[in-house]
Amino acid sequence: MGKLKYVLLVVWLCFQVTGNMVAQSSFSGGKKISSDLFGLFFEDINYAADGGLYAELVQNRSFEYNPAERSNWNPFSYWEFILPGHSLGSISVETKAPIHVNNPHYVVLEAEHIGHEAKYTGNSGVGIKNTGFEGMVVKAGDKYNFSMFARLLSKTPVSFTIGLQTTKGKLLAETKLTVTAGDWTKYQASLISVESNDTANLVILATTEGKISLDMISLFPEKTFKNRPNGLRADMAQVLADMKPRFIRFPGGCLAHGDGLGNMYRWKNTIGPLEQRKEQRNIWGYNQTAGLGYFEFFQFCEDIGAKPLPVLPAAVSCQNSGGTWKVGGTGQKAIPMDEMKEYVQEVLDLIEWANGSVNTEWGAKRAAAGHPAPFHLEYVGVGNEDKITPEFEERFKMIFEAVKAKYPDIKVVGTVGPFHSGEDFEKGWEIANQLKVPVVDEHYYTDPAWFIANQHRYDSYKRNATQVYLGEYASWGNKMKNAIAEAAYMTALERNGDVVRMASYAPLLAKKDFTQWTTDMIFFDNTKICLTPNYYVQKMFSANQGDYYFGNVISKNEKDSTLAASCVRDSKSGDVMLKMVNYSNVAKPMKVNLSKFKSLASNAEQTVLTGDAEAENTLDNMNQIAPVKSTVKVKKVFEYSAPPMSLTVIRIKTRK
Ligand code: AHR
Repeated sequence: MGKLKYVLLVVWLCFQVTGNMVAQSSFSGGKKISSDLFGLFFEDINYAADGGLYAELVQNRSFEYNPAERSNWNPFSYWEFILPGHSLGSISVETKAPIHVNNPHYVVLEAEHIGHEAKYTGNSGVGIKNTGFEGMVVKAGDKYNFSMFARLLSKTPVSFTIGLQTTKGKLLAETKLTVTAGDWTKYQASLISVESNDTANLVILATTEGKISLDMISLFPEKTFKNRPNGLRADMAQVLADMKPRFIRFPGGCLAHGDGLGNMYRWKNTIGPLEQRKEQRNIWGYNQTAGLGYFEFFQFCEDIGAKPLPVLPAAVSCQNSGGTWKVGGTGQKAIPMDEMKEYVQEVLDLIEWANGSVNTEWGAKRAAAGHPAPFHLEYVGVGNEDKITPEFEERFKMIFEAVKAKYPDIKVVGTVGPFHSGEDFEKGWEIANQLKVPVVDEHYYTDPAWFIANQHRYDSYKRNATQVYLGEYASWGNKMKNAIAEAAYMTALERNGDVVRMASYAPLLAKKDFTQWTTDMIFFDNTKICLTPNYYVQKMFSANQGDYYFGNVISKNEKDSTLAASCVRDSKSGDVMLKMVNYSNVAKPMKVNLSKFKSLASNAEQTVLTGDAEAENTLDNMNQIAPVKSTVKVKKVFEYSAPPMSLTVIRIKTRK
């Protein structure tokens, strides 16, 4: 080692040691807790992906909608055949020579005669119009990126106009392109809208005679989150980023294990060129394009500093497959044992895809998609609240053992059924204990009173054993009383942050009029995003996480379960964070004693969320409830009067 390198190493070591001493000396005591505690659960339910977070504006872009998804759907749903100017032509949906076997349907358009109706002022031609997801939102002056795959079937090239129109046919933007190639070729153009419009349509019009095949017709705003191509709706991604989640779980939920064996979410179908991805009906009864696929999930995690937590099927489908509660349901189905070797390899390949070097088979595919650096995957979920049957157990064990053997550093997250107790819960925990699974995924949706009454649930869980990922939870409802019951419970999750490793509220997103699950964290339509009180509670916890918990900083009437509190400190920033919850309808006192912390700043940032127990935000009345921020003076010891039905977070700096 050169002399300079040696000197630099010594300086660096001294800095590390003194840095740690500063960090250690500013407080005493404290229990180490998980630094991955609060994160997000994303599932494509309630149109959360296509028509939601995924910014694609064209609906049914690859003509794959079909009646198995919705009885009134077909490959031409959300498209209209148009012949302006008294033109003549025909259209058909075909499957003979698709772009890719995963994307079988496409349209064939024949422009036989381009009319010149004297009274008609716009373009004449033969074409198709897409109405988007209840219309397309465009902003004046913004750029929209259009692309389509086309193949010329006639001898002479065919010219097109590509336009954005209002529902009344007023032109908002227009560009031209000519299809010349006899093989499937991607054509691209951009459109700049002259006016803002919330219900625009996209028109693709052949303006010269000829015959062409068309597929994968797409329109994206240029301004996606972080301007990523094939990206996310910027305003929606931003409210998620604002929460500073430590992880994102995806793609579900029940969507992960799917509605029967053929409907499982298979990650390999969701990476690579968009035109080669496999669309399918999701378990919630609509089409998922997989445009927001594994690559995009991992990229979003990286963009917002969250760890990815993919959940793969444990080789069994959802126990409610086929609507088991109805006549004719199929129930849980298991991948046949002679296909398990291949399935286990699929799980291992995901880890190689995420973390492997560019010289590995799957690492090379990640690099080809534009991400040569590894994604640093730490967790892999196996199974989603599956029924714990012998078929499940056998397959889970095979997958778990294979991951452990090949990737001992990866933490497998197992599953313990859909409820907070009961047969699947017990059996799931038994398997986890036997196999020493690092973490298991608990799920429960119940009433607010349950959350208040069960704040001590994790106090008695075994330490230094399998940890908990509370992967799905919510109290039924989006009123203040629901959010504050969850807040009380979250203080208990922090207190038990040595055994509860992660927690995520569910579901995350719900589109107005397209909702299958009524209690959700964020409601939206094409233009608005309604943040519920539950969102604000999650954000106040998630953006104020610590890695040490202090039990004796906040005192309150211990017999009063409507009061809850926690104190954590974040080693990185040095900040101390107090959370105080009052689930009653009157103000109540708590005492804060910060004397164990040195160098506390005298000004602190205080955020208070309070309101009537029944109050809620809706898309029509979005601002009933919102947190209020202020700067307050803090002393070493003070009394805090917690407002009725409230969560207060006080964040205090201990470093300049
Ligand atoms: O979060 C909605 C659904 O609830 C999830 O898909 C499923 O895992 C749970 O039952």
